[in-house]
Amino acid sequence: MTILAIESSCDETSASVLLKSGDQVIVKSNITATSLELHSATGGIIPENAARMQVKYIIPVIVKSILAAFDEKETDTLNDWKKSSQLIKENIDAIAVTYGPGLIGSLLVGVETAKTFAFAFNKPIIPVNHLLAHIYANFIKSKLNPKSLNLHPNSFPFIGFIVSGGHTDLLFFNSHKNYKWLGGTRDDAAGEAMDKIGRLLGIPYPAGPEIERRANLAKEKKLRFKSPLMGSDDYDFSFSGLKTEVLRFVKENPSPSEEIKNEICFATQKAIVDVLVKKTLKATDEFNCKKVLVGGGVSANQNFKAKMTESTNLNVYFPDKQYSTDNAAMIGAYALLAGETKPWREINANPELYFD
Ligand code: KG4
Ligand code: ZN
Repeated sequence: MTILAIESSCDETSASVLLKSGDQVIVKSNITATSLELHSATGGIIPENAARMQVKYIIPVIVKSILAAFDEKETDTLNDWKKSSQLIKENIDAIAVTYGPGLIGSLLVGVETAKTFAFAFNKPIIPVNHLLAHIYANFIKSKLNPKSLNLHPNSFPFIGFIVSGGHTDLLFFNSHKNYKWLGGTRDDAAGEAMDKIGRLLGIPYPAGPEIERRANLAKEKKLRFKSPLMGSDDYDFSFSGLKTEVLRFVKENPSPSEEIKNEICFATQKAIVDVLVKKTLKATDEFNCKKVLVGGGVSANQNFKAKMTESTNLNVYFPDKQYSTDNAAMIGAYALLAGETKPWREINANPELYFD
């Protein structure tokens, strides 16, 4: 089965062609257009701006992804359209698309494009929950990530941990369809906290990678912020108090030097990572399950990775960096391993989608 996957739930516009060979998910192409510069300039995502850019990018990204997957060179626009529509007609069996959660305008761009393609080319749609797809990014085999080569898609049970800009959710999976949500954030997600704290420090959106870079430069490493809900007997997270604590510190220490900013970044990263690791360990203990699949943009953080793998006896998997932030290949991976085809008429964008 060969599919075209589309992702447009937040600020990225991405298309990927994938196929399943045995149990393996093989990515033939994965093209993402980002409107990051625009969002950096405005200090965060303005939903209407994101959707406007996605309307502009979606067809070129799909065309690029189809041509790349079938080793066709790009020539001129008209020719590329013709060639890619022929390739879709002949080679694509289904169209996978993120139908939620996310920004409604952004989701509609992907979902309505997928429906139009499904209608025009008479293909079924595989609707995909963006959150589950973040975890399934781990099943994409990659030589860049040798651990992924040992991960079999049917090796249940495992703990799934989504740590992204919009979500912090822990789940326990018994099978593709049988999973239990254990807990999540009560307010800001981990990535969102990084981005908001970054804004307080004048770091452009998305601040996660820069907070990580600065944390690595910190020398003293003595400043501490509280890790929220560290000792709570549940799987809840809360990061808005951390933001308030940093705000208070910055008010009391106005115009911090670069050195102090690095210390703040170190303390922020530590407060977030400590509670993420603690709650993961709680889940692996309770469910007696050592296997953990992490996904989402924050999983690109090397300190988080190191703390999860080095100081625990867990078997932890992280996706390749290219599959950890929003991308269409992870949508395709979920579709191929656990998705169900549906007629295009039954598909609707659902910004509030959570877990079944
Ligand atoms: O998964 P993602 O691309 O989008 C959502 O679905 O939310 O995650 C984006 C988030 C942003 O908040 C960004 O600051 C954070 O991931 N992020 C990081 C790192 N790279 C991206 N946070 C910490 N360290 C990183 N290296
Ligand atoms: Zn995401």
